[in-house]
Amino acid sequence: MAATTKGPIRLAIAGVGNCASSLVQGLAYYAGRNDASGLMHWDLGGYRPDDIEIAAAWDIDARKVGRDVAEAIFAPPNCTQRFCAEVPASGVTVEMGAIFDGVADHMADAAEHRTFLPADGAEPRRQDVITRLRESRADVLINYLPVGSERATEFYAGCALEAGVAFVNAIPVFIASDPAWAARFAAAGVPLIGDDIKAQMGATIVHRVLTDLFARRGVSLDRTYQLNTGGNTDFLNMSNRSRLKSKKISKTEAVQAVAKTRLEDENIHIGPSDYVPWQNDNKVCFVRMEGRLFGDVPMNLELRLSVEDSPNSAGVAIDMIRCARLALDRGIGGAIIPASAWLCKHPPEQMTDDAAHAAMEAFLAERPATKLREVCA
Ligand SMILES: NC(=O)c1ccc[n+]([C@@H]2O[C@H](COP(=O)([O-])OP(=O)(O)OC[C@H]3O[C@@H](n4cnc5c(N)ncnc54)[C@H](O)[C@@H]3O)[C@@H](O)[C@H]2O)c1
Repeated sequence: MAATTKGPIRLAIAGVGNCASSLVQGLAYYAGRNDASGLMHWDLGGYRPDDIEIAAAWDIDARKVGRDVAEAIFAPPNCTQRFCAEVPASGVTVEMGAIFDGVADHMADAAEHRTFLPADGAEPRRQDVITRLRESRADVLINYLPVGSERATEFYAGCALEAGVAFVNAIPVFIASDPAWAARFAAAGVPLIGDDIKAQMGATIVHRVLTDLFARRGVSLDRTYQLNTGGNTDFLNMSNRSRLKSKKISKTEAVQAVAKTRLEDENIHIGPSDYVPWQNDNKVCFVRMEGRLFGDVPMNLELRLSVEDSPNSAGVAIDMIRCARLALDRGIGGAIIPASAWLCKHPPEQMTDDAAHAAMEAFLAERPATKLREVCA
């Protein structure tokens, strides 16, 4: 099937873990198909999923560095489902990344097949990464580092900015939602989408939509929790609570932002709760919401959601990447508000999901976004 006329979107990846595995598998899976099953958009602004091609990749794991991206995505400790039998060689070799705070100390306590094994190779300097981004003709760099990688994320974001490459931040280190970083990208005319990818049918969007429903139906929400368990390296990494500060803020604010009345801190508990190795990339989420109906009569709701964690975010990532490229085409720099609000948990501006969806579709159609500023109360 012929690709769209707009040409390829050249993608660089920082962190070839489970999310990158699902994304790269997805590019092969959707190539040559012509249906949008499992995707929010087949054609997004003239770009199809298989218009994305790999330009460069960095990781720090000895089992990934030096291998073609198509092989590295199946190397341990990656443990997500293989839903695409044949992933063609990308012709791009995973390069040694700059470690900084990407690997937490406690990761060394887990079995080898469960954890990161840092490679011995020389780490790149800032100029090496910038040069590689330029020489590879990357349009977009997606950040898939472990939660808590603040310095490493700032390193890669700074390199993208300098190279004029759009930055898509899938993790809860605040870049797009940090006014200083957003201003730097705006001044340079470089698009930025983030922060913290909001999975397709994940705990966050389900919890938000229900919270919004409580508000619209006049049900007072008194207390809620969201407990999550999983067995991938993301959950192992987050079992060290000191890495969780921004993740907790991101996930909690995503729900608080759509509540009719902000809940007291002690009445809302949201977070990764436990690492269960045998779950591998299966994530299970338990939500409880307690409220009051007409006449202050109490009610409660309990929900269990089970998903394969990484494919759940890959289609969203494909839309983030295509939006970043659209912004480049249109000469728009800085934080792309509609795409960030619809596709991320911690955008620069929070909206209800209805408003964010309307703003995103207006952005795609280049319509004035009347609801763009419908920020949550
Ligand atoms: N799955 C989802 O739906 C979802 C949703 C929101 C956010 N996220 C976030 O996306 C990120 C990626 O998730 P994942 O499941 O792929 O994690 P992962 O642990 O499978 O992958 C992280 C990868 O980064 C590599 N790495 C570590 N430090 C590095 C460095 N300094 N430079 C380059 N590479 C480095 C690791 O070797 C590993 O391959 C996590 O922060 C996760 O919280 C995922």
